[in-house]
Amino acid sequence: MQLPSVLVLNGPNLNLLGTREPAVYGSETLDDVANRCREAGARLNLAIDFRQSNAEHQLIDWLHETRTQVAGIVINPAAYTHTSVALADALTAVEKPVIEVHISNVHQREAFRHHSFVSAVASGIIVGCGTQGYVLALERMATLLSTQSAKKGAQ
Ligand code: DQA
Repeated sequence: MQLPSVLVLNGPNLNLLGTREPAVYGSETLDDVANRCREAGARLNLAIDFRQSNAEHQLIDWLHETRTQVAGIVINPAAYTHTSVALADALTAVEKPVIEVHISNVHQREAFRHHSFVSAVASGIIVGCGTQGYVLALERMATLLSTQSAKKGAQ
């Protein structure tokens, strides 16, 4: 049987993880985070499709392209969190469970980071847990997906 696939999407500047403001975002690189996600996926029986783009349209196009194949989405929209109605609309259109992740505690930071367009669309939000937040998000996604499939089985 095919494993449920989870799209792990990363927004702008996250390609610079490890060198970008390490006091805020830590010293792990995005490759380290991808490896952590793949390890968690292997443990949780999820296939991980890990991607990053600096372009809003690319993130939206990936959501459109993969929408029939993915079971759920873990997303760190980075700065688009606070600006992008288009990304929130795309996440709504996909109609799959979404977990929003932020490495830093955005609520301890500038006021413009306190609002998220994505949160209204998300089943859950993990904030300020460092890169471990991605693993926590995948654990939550595994729970949501198994509850969903148990419900389907009971119908
Ligand atoms: C971030 C928080 C955002 O405010 C910021 O623009 C980022 C990263 C985080 O992971 O903490 O790029 O999403």
